Amino acid sequence: MSTSQSSESLENLWDEKHAATLDEPGRLLYRSNLLGSDKRITNFGGGNTSAKVLALDPLTGEETQVLWVKGSGGDVGTMKLDGFATLYMDKLNTLPALYRGDQFEDEMVGYLPHCTYNLNPRASSIDTPLHAYVPHRHVDHMHPDAIIAIAAAADGQALTQEIFGEDIGWLPWRRPGYELGLWLAAFCKENPKARGVILGSHGLFTWADTAEQCYAITLEIINQASAWLNKKTKGHNAFGGGKHPALSTEQRQRVAEQLLPEIRGLISQEQHKVGHFDDSEAVLEFVCSEQMPSLAELGTSCPDHFLRTKIWPVIVEYNPSEDNLEQTVASLPALLEGYREKYAQYYERCKHADSPAMRDPNAVVYLVPGVGMFTFAKDKTTARVSAEFYTNAINVMRESSAVSTYCGLPEQEAFDIEYWLLEEAKLQRMPKAKSLAGRVALVTGGAGGIGSATASRLLSEGACVVLADIDEALLQKTHKRLTESHGSDVVRQVVMDVTDEAQVIAALATTAREFGGVDILISNAGIASSAPVEDTTLELWNKNMDILSTGYFLVSRETFKVLRRQAVGGAIVFIASKNALAASPGASAYCTAKAAEVHLARCLALEGASGGIRVNVVNPDAVLEGSKIWSGDWLQERADAYGKDAKELQAHYLERSLLKRAVLPEDIAEATYFLVCDASAKSTGNIINVDAGNVQSFTR
Ligand SMILES: NC(=O)c1ccc[n+]([C@@H]2O[C@H](COP(=O)([O-])OP(=O)(O)OC[C@H]3O[C@@H](n4cnc5c(N)ncnc54)[C@H](O)[C@@H]3O)[C@@H](O)[C@H]2O)c1
Ligand SMILES: [Zn+2]
Repeated sequence: MSTSQSSESLENLWDEKHAATLDEPGRLLYRSNLLGSDKRITNFGGGNTSAKVLALDPLTGEETQVLWVKGSGGDVGTMKLDGFATLYMDKLNTLPALYRGDQFEDEMVGYLPHCTYNLNPRASSIDTPLHAYVPHRHVDHMHPDAIIAIAAAADGQALTQEIFGEDIGWLPWRRPGYELGLWLAAFCKENPKARGVILGSHGLFTWADTAEQCYAITLEIINQASAWLNKKTKGHNAFGGGKHPALSTEQRQRVAEQLLPEIRGLISQEQHKVGHFDDSEAVLEFVCSEQMPSLAELGTSCPDHFLRTKIWPVIVEYNPSEDNLEQTVASLPALLEGYREKYAQYYERCKHADSPAMRDPNAVVYLVPGVGMFTFAKDKTTARVSAEFYTNAINVMRESSAVSTYCGLPEQEAFDIEYWLLEEAKLQRMPKAKSLAGRVALVTGGAGGIGSATASRLLSEGACVVLADIDEALLQKTHKRLTESHGSDVVRQVVMDVTDEAQVIAALATTAREFGGVDILISNAGIASSAPVEDTTLELWNKNMDILSTGYFLVSRETFKVLRRQAVGGAIVFIASKNALAASPGASAYCTAKAAEVHLARCLALEGASGGIRVNVVNPDAVLEGSKIWSGDWLQERADAYGKDAKELQAHYLERSLLKRAVLPEDIAEATYFLVCDASAKSTGNIINVDAGNVQSFTR
């Protein structure tokens, strides 16, 4: 059976009452957001919409026609009005006279800013001419899987004719740009009755006189294509049927946790990459199928798809029936090197005299029979979106190969898009990567005061963070807060007791599964206890030792294992304490366990150095704000120890410090960030005291 993503037809969600309250640009935005909110209509960031609207010219005060068209960047589903570029139609209509032919179409992009209406700073996209010259007021350009399945079929033109008759026309593949805009204009002139056109290997154009009609036609055409495909593929064995069994969820996760860090290490030599694991139904069906290897080799079709997923995926040599994991791991270095060589050959074969230099030759997509798909990119969102795009490509290949012969885009065309000078210019305009982009951090005690402040600091520098804590309720609260401030792609939570070996191992496995591996460990989970030695029970002593020394050992050991497998270095920071260096009255268990942490850090610094694994210590003191420790008995006990009132304690600590300043969680986070980022690349085995100055803890 073909498992089409959803055979239900698209529902018309247009609310005329709401639409009536909007002006013309507002209705365009409304339509765009409706269209983009359903991934069956268009992929993330793909497609664009436009309306030709009458507006007043700010110079002459006269009415003039303005093209509102989705600008460069963003996504139609979530865009706002500022995502549209606005251009004078009368100026756009002067451009054909300047056009020197398709060899020179890229130079037309330079004229678009001259056509800007009302000083709108939004840059025009490359698709602007595709909308400008269609002689209809409203135009939608979408990338629906169901349409691309037809657009990527060997006999796509005949299928289009069969499904849509005169209603929808066909234009062969042509890279988006000025020439294609003129083709569309000519098509409309020659086919005045057509309501749209399918672009070979690309997507759909539809048009109408009102926003509502345009929206309705787009849905209708996609529904028509889906219904036709469903009918044709009913009872059909997708991808030639299954070849491998799909493993159980637990088994798939186990394999993913093992393979992800191995692959990540092999492709992160130049730049750290974040991984994403997808074992959804559509992906599993594909990776387990008979035809997967041959279809994957053909490459993707829609330009959006391969810009995000590279021309081909890697097929990992794993056999789920034999579970040959060790052999698979051993095969990876040669497999990935082979891909890089193949990619370099493709670059050499296709490059032009003025092509930009070859970009990262590593694959983005890794298909694992029986298990699923891994994607890797410079950040988590890009990795996740790449998986979404390859899933679009899978949907296209399934339907297309069921009704015809699926065709990828010809190699040279793919290259010309990938290394298009305009695409390169777009990449050059991207903001510089943040200092921890591509890095993955595990923060123990991540729900608490110092842990969450540190997590937030690392997130703001582009890292992905897994918060691990024993306190489930607080963990959820912190996770929610950090998700709200940094986005749901980059934060995960795992309930974990640092003294429980199995839970620590599981937390590292989760980190690998969620982000592909680990680079940074902030070992911070802790407690504080206070008692004169004669009242220190063995239980209290052991508790301190268990959480502070043994816990730090366990998370470090498991992190070391992953870091060694990746072999691209790493950074560990122990949040110890002033008390690790300075004896304190009535807290021998805590002080001794903290001292053990410092020495453990030094031992690990020694062992890790050859692998580029740095281990350093931050010693806080008296960080009362946000700390759970300071909201428990410890506060009263410390006050008693110094003969102070609990309320006076903060003032006491401040007075005691050399700098006479309060120490905040953010201060600890800052020192910790320094020790994990590349600015401290040459420091290991070090201690930074963040205690507002205390002569007792001066290191020597
Ligand atoms: N706040 C200070 O003044 C101060 C001073 C010196 C050292 N420190 C150290 O800083 C670290 C963080 O302390 P904080 O002030 O943020 O306190 P906090 O209590 O706010 O955070 C500590 C977190 O560790 C978690 N935790 C406790 N036991 C755990 C276990 N077995 N497994 C997993 N998680 C566990 C707690 O649930 C809590 O969320 C601790 O190691 C502490 O000893 C703090
Ligand atoms: Zn397109």
